[in-house]
Amino acid sequence: MAKDTLTITDNRTGKQYEIPIEHNAIRTADLHQIKVSEDDFGMMAYDPAYLNTASCRSAITFIDGDKGILRYRGYPIEQLAEKASFLEVAYLLFEGELPTKAQLERWESDVRSHTYVHTNILKFLEGYRYDAHPMGVLLGATAALSTFYPDAKHIEDPACRYLQRVRLMAKLPTIAAFAFRHSRGLPFVFPRNELNYIGNYVNMTFEIGGKHEPNPVLQRALEILLILHADHEQNCSTSAVRAVGSSHVDPFSAVSAGIAALYGPLHGGANEAVLEMLDEIGDKKNIPAFISEGKGGKGRLMGFGHRVYKSYDPRAKLIKKVAYDVFEQTGLNPKLEIALELERIALEDDYFIKRKLYPNVDFYSGLIYQAMGYPTDYFTVLFAIGRLPGWVAQWEEMLRDKDQKIARPRQIYIGYDQREFVPMAMRGDK
Ligand code: ACO
Repeated sequence: MAKDTLTITDNRTGKQYEIPIEHNAIRTADLHQIKVSEDDFGMMAYDPAYLNTASCRSAITFIDGDKGILRYRGYPIEQLAEKASFLEVAYLLFEGELPTKAQLERWESDVRSHTYVHTNILKFLEGYRYDAHPMGVLLGATAALSTFYPDAKHIEDPACRYLQRVRLMAKLPTIAAFAFRHSRGLPFVFPRNELNYIGNYVNMTFEIGGKHEPNPVLQRALEILLILHADHEQNCSTSAVRAVGSSHVDPFSAVSAGIAALYGPLHGGANEAVLEMLDEIGDKKNIPAFISEGKGGKGRLMGFGHRVYKSYDPRAKLIKKVAYDVFEQTGLNPKLEIALELERIALEDDYFIKRKLYPNVDFYSGLIYQAMGYPTDYFTVLFAIGRLPGWVAQWEEMLRDKDQKIARPRQIYIGYDQREFVPMAMRGDK
């Protein structure tokens, strides 16, 4: 009769073990009982980079990488991108349900009343060099928020967690806009709370001399991009937030760990790398040679490939559509032509087909951000604003999960056995 268990035979000892299966997974702690002798530590699972290890159970985001499906709390990303606002999606990620009209109004109003940052933050933002990478600025300033709100450490209190959620959602765009202004040597523009979330952010970045003409098409395009980035289950930055948060540090510190992870070129930094790559290619005629170099481990096609998606990233599909809306407003970005041709050639190439390498979310997003007027090194900051609700929702889910403890992986030690200290005089001249 079929049973939800796995029977393991240890051929070293001939012993058999029956291990329960739940959600198509075994608990690796159950392997611990598999021992050769009493003083043996017990068997572990070796899984560098967590290729096949679930670190949690989560009810937030569903991905089917083979079919190209992404859903937040059960709602398809395509529907959310078309019909919802970013704050509505954030509410959905936090609370598990779409808000009623009254709930959304309250949530928007709470966020709106926390958009200002302490003026001391302005002082140390001014201390960054003029060419400081805005992601480094965002990282430092977000971590610093924990010193302004020491009450945030009461993470066991749901009301306190709600307040930090509001503060993070409200203040991150303000800090991000200040980082933008700093990099251009422009004076900071303070929040205007009669504007909506996106409108206020765009105004803080682009207002000059008290004036900014809002473009609703571009603002909606930015909002869609933020929605598409809002969560992506246990990616590198979210896992960083969960791991750091598992020490029960305050959420500002945990989120800054997520920002640090996102800074890396293999994660959020990829859209910046895509534009550099398109600049390097320079002309359509250079694409075939460039693609050949991107094969066989010599280099990589940035914006291609994904740990989870082994088909077209559903976010990339939606972003490609948004790109056309944006370019209608701003005029065509000549790099789009190179990108489209690069995609076409790569998708017909055996190397990419065999490895199931398709454009990911970052392939087209950089082109859009550039058309909107953001410099390349700022793209990842926009990603961070989008990913924030995911980080915070996952952090709260982790805190409420009775299965979770402080994250502390095991290792397989492959170094020396004990050896005697060698005095300096006896170490030779190497
Ligand atoms: N260009 C060329 N070859 C690639 C690429 C690429 N972009 N991505 C993967 N490969 C190849 C690898 O060389 C490897 O080939 P091999 O089997 O012959 O050795 C194979 O495909 C599998 O690659 P892995 O590195 O094992 O895949 P992994 O799941 O670890 O990496 C990653 C995923 C990091 C996204 C990778 O595809 C990559 O570096 N892409 C470029 C950077 C990028 O666009 N990052 C953004 C990701 S999306 C996001 O963070 C929002």
